[in-house]
Amino acid sequence: MCGIIGYCGEKSAAPIVLEGLKRLEYRGYDSAGIASLCDGRLLMKKDVGKIDEVNQKHNLGSLLGNTAIGHTRWATHGGVTQDNAHPHCDCKREIFVVHNGIIENHQPLRHRLERKYSFVSETDSEVIPHLIREFMDMGSSLEQAVCQAVKELRGSYAILAISASEPQKIVAARKDSPLVVGIGSGESFVASDVLSFLKHTNRVIFVEDGEIVSLNNDKVTIHDGEGRQIPREPQKVDWKWSGATKQGYEFFMRKEIMEQPWAMRCALMQDRGLIMEAAMDILRTRQVVLTGCGTSRHAALIGRYLFSKVGGKFSDVIMGSEFHHFSDSIHKDTLVIAVSQSGETADILEGVKKAKANGATILSIVNVVGSSLARLSDKVVYLNCGPEIGVAATKSFVSELVIFYLLAFAMINQLREGMRAIKSLSLLTRKNLNHNGAISPELAQGLKGKNDFYYIARGINFATAMEAALKAKEIAYVHAEGMPAGELKHGTLALIEQKTPVIAICPADYTFEETMSNVAEAKARGAFIIGVSDRNEESFDEWLKIPTVEEVFYPLVSIVPLQLLAYDLAVAKGLDPDKPRNLAKSVTVK
Ligand code: G6P
Repeated sequence: MCGIIGYCGEKSAAPIVLEGLKRLEYRGYDSAGIASLCDGRLLMKKDVGKIDEVNQKHNLGSLLGNTAIGHTRWATHGGVTQDNAHPHCDCKREIFVVHNGIIENHQPLRHRLERKYSFVSETDSEVIPHLIREFMDMGSSLEQAVCQAVKELRGSYAILAISASEPQKIVAARKDSPLVVGIGSGESFVASDVLSFLKHTNRVIFVEDGEIVSLNNDKVTIHDGEGRQIPREPQKVDWKWSGATKQGYEFFMRKEIMEQPWAMRCALMQDRGLIMEAAMDILRTRQVVLTGCGTSRHAALIGRYLFSKVGGKFSDVIMGSEFHHFSDSIHKDTLVIAVSQSGETADILEGVKKAKANGATILSIVNVVGSSLARLSDKVVYLNCGPEIGVAATKSFVSELVIFYLLAFAMINQLREGMRAIKSLSLLTRKNLNHNGAISPELAQGLKGKNDFYYIARGINFATAMEAALKAKEIAYVHAEGMPAGELKHGTLALIEQKTPVIAICPADYTFEETMSNVAEAKARGAFIIGVSDRNEESFDEWLKIPTVEEVFYPLVSIVPLQLLAYDLAVAKGLDPDKPRNLAKSVTVK
């Protein structure tokens, strides 16, 4: 998954595209490039490295012209090299293209096109400018050529194309990769997400699969694959640009961890009728299946416990990447609850599309307004937590949990009580952050030489162990496993040596005693025990104190010190927690 952005207007385009690329860097950051159109000439600079590195070397913003397209890459096909970086061009260097997605049939297309044109990169994307060239040579305009070219592509794409023969124009197309147009005054934008141009405009049009968009300053036209014009009014997005800045913090992740009390309150701002209806759907539907990837799957696992424990309703969680393999058992009596911060995770979209085709009802829990998942769903509950930029999800996790609490309490007709409880928990979360924020850097210093971490918990707390381990893996590059504490003795105990860190999430709830016996097993093998609990125990070598809350709410408070610990471990190791190697925030490829 990569990030793409284009600008067409009266201002100098490259600096605007460069700034937008920095906002898109969460989607990939192994190479970057910009191409601009100036007086009928195409100019281009690209290289490997993060955007700031490429910019320092090539001064990307200095490219002249009022029309430009840019790309930040996360390599899928072809190594991280300058030739493989985007934009890619045709042989005459008259057509430049940036692409996000994967062209599945690139090999046969390449074999055919190589008879006429020479390729310089190993990427799947390079077939696109050559295909456009082929159609333009037959007399097509840029727009017609893009339309003809995409008919030959299989796979997923969001494409922006510019041509020396059509100044002041960007042509864009999408299938299964996000693309949104921004309408300013005398200027327009097109990008992988709204954040990249939010500073300039919040009037947007979400592009649908199969549509071809032409941008010419503020004139934006949309056609379907048959060339029929599609009228579409822009809509307003109410995210604020300031939400996408660090506001004094060194890293976005720190800022996003610290703003969790606020995020919890924002997640409470829901249409109560919608929550009640969704809760009734959960109770009434024969089969309820939750799906999500990474952090969002962990939130879904906690949701499953809540539905059972509070609402008395059994449901199951299937991970996003496996979900479509279960489509045979998904039918009209199934409610699918799809959880995704971005709403663009390809694995989830694939499963949800199949479920929908089988007649299932789709309820989604999403942060990004207007995202592909939101638009596919019958009902959408938004997190309202503002942009999350750090690759490792933090505030979106607690916001997703809040939505699950609301649904569970609505199932027993106690929505108001649930809302009240979460409001007061948001105040406790502030204290929790302050207390653990002060002790976690020192603990991280002591642990920074360790390579293996085991997180254990039971019942409703087990997914917190999984989520905490994921945080440590993602940003501190350690081997970390989260598991139900009872499973330790079924294999993993063999890996415990002297001073191996075992993090036990054992609040003083119904899981406490059983988890403590697993702590004893690990301790007897020499483990270094870090207890996350409201109760201190002799067996703890370190104690991360959390507030005492009602049993069902422990996941909301016990994740906090563990997010901080992962963050502080990354910082202690000199790593950038916002941009972990090999990972991207929004995974729009399968
Ligand atoms: C990627 C990110 C994870 C995230 C997951 C799901 O793998 O690196 O941090 O949890 O995608 O993202 P979503 O936007 O669907 O919640």
